[in-house]
Amino acid sequence: MNKTAGVPAKSNAPQLRCIGCATVAITENRDMRCSGCGDLLEVIYPALGSGIDAESLKTIWQQRRTSNHSLDTSGVWRFREMLPALTAGTAPITLREGNTPLYELPLAARKIGIGQLFAKHQGMNPTGSFKDTGMTVAASFARQHGYRWVACASTGNTSASMAAYASRGKMRSLVLVPEGQVSWSKLSQALDYGALTCQLRTDFDGCTRVLNAVIQRAPIYVLNSVNPHRVEGQKTAAIELLEQLDWEAPDHVIVPGGNLANSSALGKAFLEMKDIGLTSRLPRISIIQAEGANALVRTMRENSGQQLIPVEAQTHATAIRIGNPASWKKAVRVLQATGGSVEQVSEAEIALAKAEIGAEGIGCEPASAVTLAGLKKLVKRGIVKSQERAVLILTGHLLKDSDYTLKYHLGELFSGADTQDEGLDAQRRRPLVLDATPDIVLNALEAAEKMDIRSEEKQ
Ligand code: F0G
Repeated sequence: MNKTAGVPAKSNAPQLRCIGCATVAITENRDMRCSGCGDLLEVIYPALGSGIDAESLKTIWQQRRTSNHSLDTSGVWRFREMLPALTAGTAPITLREGNTPLYELPLAARKIGIGQLFAKHQGMNPTGSFKDTGMTVAASFARQHGYRWVACASTGNTSASMAAYASRGKMRSLVLVPEGQVSWSKLSQALDYGALTCQLRTDFDGCTRVLNAVIQRAPIYVLNSVNPHRVEGQKTAAIELLEQLDWEAPDHVIVPGGNLANSSALGKAFLEMKDIGLTSRLPRISIIQAEGANALVRTMRENSGQQLIPVEAQTHATAIRIGNPASWKKAVRVLQATGGSVEQVSEAEIALAKAEIGAEGIGCEPASAVTLAGLKKLVKRGIVKSQERAVLILTGHLLKDSDYTLKYHLGELFSGADTQDEGLDAQRRRPLVLDATPDIVLNALEAAEKMDIRSEEKQ
């Protein structure tokens, strides 16, 4: 890879730059890493925002919301001025991703004592997770490059998303998932969307190692989040969020941390939006991990983000069961640039937060619920203040892991001390098995009403 090879100095075209040695490349290697120093690549736009002012961009993006053109109906490609362009005449592979709702969470806001709390629900994407926003971009690049096969190692959501976009784009997909550590819903999606699905007897980090070896020996395009085009698509959640808040940045954005690409993508978006005047200030981006998969938390606390401390990952929130996160350096930079914090939360805290989000009629998968659990801790530490506005990024749909939800409500998720936890128990809703008579159902109704009155009196 030679420096700025073939790229005019002031090109409007995006370039790939190594986050380690800053070498600029024009094509990706198969492993999506710098051939000089082996670090990750990022997309940069030397002329981002030139030739168009922020107000005009806002107007164009708003006008596209009334258009039926396929590029405009995608909540990702609607913001194409902030994305790498495909070759002229090439249509992207799109499933109308993005366009996700921003919900207010008034009950949770009151309970934890902050001004306003929102949930940006990325689980409302076509395959039920935030992965679709990045996949439309990266899968489109794979097809443009003429790849027949795309592949990923995954904790489930990436594989579901990749399989869908590959099939829409008439490509084949290879999925490597850790056996027994991926929810059935996600696995079933990969199968239904037509992926060659391999359950490997290892964990996610082991799947990644195998994938890296496989792609050296077969012409396969990697669609893991080390792919810099995925990150570009995932940026659009931040753009859409600011648009939904009438371009008033919130004080805090709280993101779950797994392989750490999503936090990196959102941070990149906010920094670019500030650069071109779409917002005058940055939210603090905080990253929350499960206690059992806390590589970034340890890295920040033990060496201020200098050197990754990998861990042996273990959590019921299987989507973020990752011990050796690939994008840790990008995430550290986002924390430093936005003044964000890291926090870790226990299994019981995750389960409770998930049930609380569910109780507001919204719901999410366990990995997403770390955001609310982490926010509670950030409020206690005084990092999020009572008058401030925070946004949780909910990354996956409630139905992504029904098994977890059922086990929680049946009291079968944990063994030991957690099952005795009073707070956890208060949110439980056990299904009743009753004889089929109106009297018995009416009795159940009366008992529930009494319970509701008692818990209202307690508050
Ligand atoms: N939330 C959900 C629901 C996820 O599926 C993931 C990652 C994350 C959060 C963490 O995002 O990795 O960008 O920090 N899932 C990947 C997968 C690893 O394979 O589906 P991240």
